[in-house]
Amino acid sequence: MNKNKNMHQNKNKNHLPVLLNEVIEVMKPKLNESYLDLTAGFGGHAEAIMSITKNPKESYLVDRDQFAINYLKQKFNKLGSKIIHNDFLDASKDLLNSNIKVKLILADLGVSSFHLNEAQRGFSFKLDGPLDMRMDQGQSLTAYHVVNKYSRDKLIYILKEYGEEPKSRLIADLIIKNRPISNTLELAQIPQRVWKNSRTDPSTRTFQAIRIEVNNELNLLSESLKIWIKLLELNGRLGIISFHSLEDKIIKNFFKEISSYDYLKQVKILTPKPIIPSHNEIVNNPRSRSAKLRVVAKIKT
Ligand SMILES: C[S@@+](CC[C@H](N)C(=O)[O-])C[C@H]1O[C@@H](n2cnc3c(N)ncnc32)[C@H](O)[C@@H]1O
Repeated sequence: MNKNKNMHQNKNKNHLPVLLNEVIEVMKPKLNESYLDLTAGFGGHAEAIMSITKNPKESYLVDRDQFAINYLKQKFNKLGSKIIHNDFLDASKDLLNSNIKVKLILADLGVSSFHLNEAQRGFSFKLDGPLDMRMDQGQSLTAYHVVNKYSRDKLIYILKEYGEEPKSRLIADLIIKNRPISNTLELAQIPQRVWKNSRTDPSTRTFQAIRIEVNNELNLLSESLKIWIKLLELNGRLGIISFHSLEDKIIKNFFKEISSYDYLKQVKILTPKPIIPSHNEIVNNPRSRSAKLRVVAKIKT
């Protein structure tokens, strides 16, 4: 799977596209194919795929982050690609209502390295920043609200379900006891106090949980999947890269459902097992370590 490792070099230093060669190998973009990138970010996957399809005018690049949109506009507007500033659920509904169908769809879920590296965005437990964590800077719900206003039960649920945090009750209680918590480093200290001798930073789980809640990540994914299949042309391919076991479970079950029963069968699964990054990729880009790629092809409209 990784024999052409250096085939598609990314030129953007901010964000290394994850599983890039694997995406190309399994999704097999072809000349003139249309493309919908639901999480275009800094255009790493888009650039590589569009360098093969050479069809920028039938390429739609979606992101909910204003900064990513500015970057994408600068890079792809002149080629005639459509840049869409919206969350992928609403963007997909709009495309469907406009009767648009495409041959290739990619969703590379979650946050970008840019989000994690910018202290002001509040995604990093290592950098001092506000409790923000919004991918879409225009939305009203922030991490500050979740941390300081949510009930104990709701906090426990989020930490346990979205963060897979074994000590969710203890952490929720300490959050409540220390309110108001006003910045990322203050929040990071709480799981660090609970897990004194942990080898990995225990704040990862708390931050992931709150980020998923703030950005409504799992609901948007669940609601979007059916629409993505509808947006695919016959023989079109949908690839999804996820970073969280709950996301992967949602994707896996959905793909199984629409590929298994004769009367429902709309797609063929191209990845019987999810594709994961090579050792080299993980060393080169630690953010890729939990990535899983699943791809289906549409076989019936
Ligand atoms: C992992 S990055 C994608 C990076 C991209 N593939 C690249 O190569 O540069 C995820 C991007 O998706 C965006 N995003 C995440 N969830 C989204 C959603 N529900 N709707 C639209 N954009 C979303 C984030 O703002 C971020 O820019």
